[in-house]
Amino acid sequence: MTIGIMAAIHDEIAELIEAITQQDKSQTHHIGMRDYYVGELEGQACVLVLARMGKVAASATAVSLIREFGVSEILFSGLAGGLAEHVQVGDVVVADRLIQHDMDARPFFPQHEIPLLGVTEFVVSQSLREELQTATRGFFKHDLAKKISAEKLAQFGLTKPDLHVGMIASGDQFIGSETEVARLRKTLPTALAVEMEGAAVAQICHEHAVPCAILRTISDRADSEAHIDFNQFLVGVASHYSCGIMRRFLANRTRVNNSLA
Ligand code: ADE
Repeated sequence: MTIGIMAAIHDEIAELIEAITQQDKSQTHHIGMRDYYVGELEGQACVLVLARMGKVAASATAVSLIREFGVSEILFSGLAGGLAEHVQVGDVVVADRLIQHDMDARPFFPQHEIPLLGVTEFVVSQSLREELQTATRGFFKHDLAKKISAEKLAQFGLTKPDLHVGMIASGDQFIGSETEVARLRKTLPTALAVEMEGAAVAQICHEHAVPCAILRTISDRADSEAHIDFNQFLVGVASHYSCGIMRRFLANRTRVNNSLA
């Protein structure tokens, strides 16, 4: 059982890549302009990869993970803009379903339906997302204050981050205006967060019957300040979240497997 772990940007999983490449037995495979790092983390066989940004990049990478490396499940960890009113910078959103907000083949198919697949919302593996939720709660409780300095916690207002579970909307667009937020809230009133890859990975996993889960840390509010907030968050705190939560997920998995053995 090998777990595929994806991110869009290097800073998001830099620490995990460093940890895996430091192992004597790890290997790096270069396919389609991407490096796939194969090794073990927290006792779990993993393949880590930077997908780069957008739905096409994420889809191509997910296919390689499944076809070339035979991963049995895929996790995606990265940043997102908060779309719902109550989803704030520093919160984590774990998707229970994902939608492609820019898919629109009307009048042939209803808005957001994937043509010829007949699916509008991709529902993700419940057990996998629950494992991510447990890892996130553990990270908030035990690691956040240790991994991120008090100044940074204050700077980003990360005093009491929340974990949300719900819909994530993906599209090939960085959302950075109040007008776009209003439009998306109107068309997708239950969407919590917006990003650029998750629903594409969920589609590939659906098509290949591979369980997946998508976790997003909120870096901005998708408004006119989003590009500034996104960059600061990426440099300052993103990797602590992604790596901290992924490590907890993998360690918990190893603990459960060992107790069943
Ligand atoms: N990822 C992080 N913030 C985002 C935003 N505002 N729009 C799209 N993707 C994002």
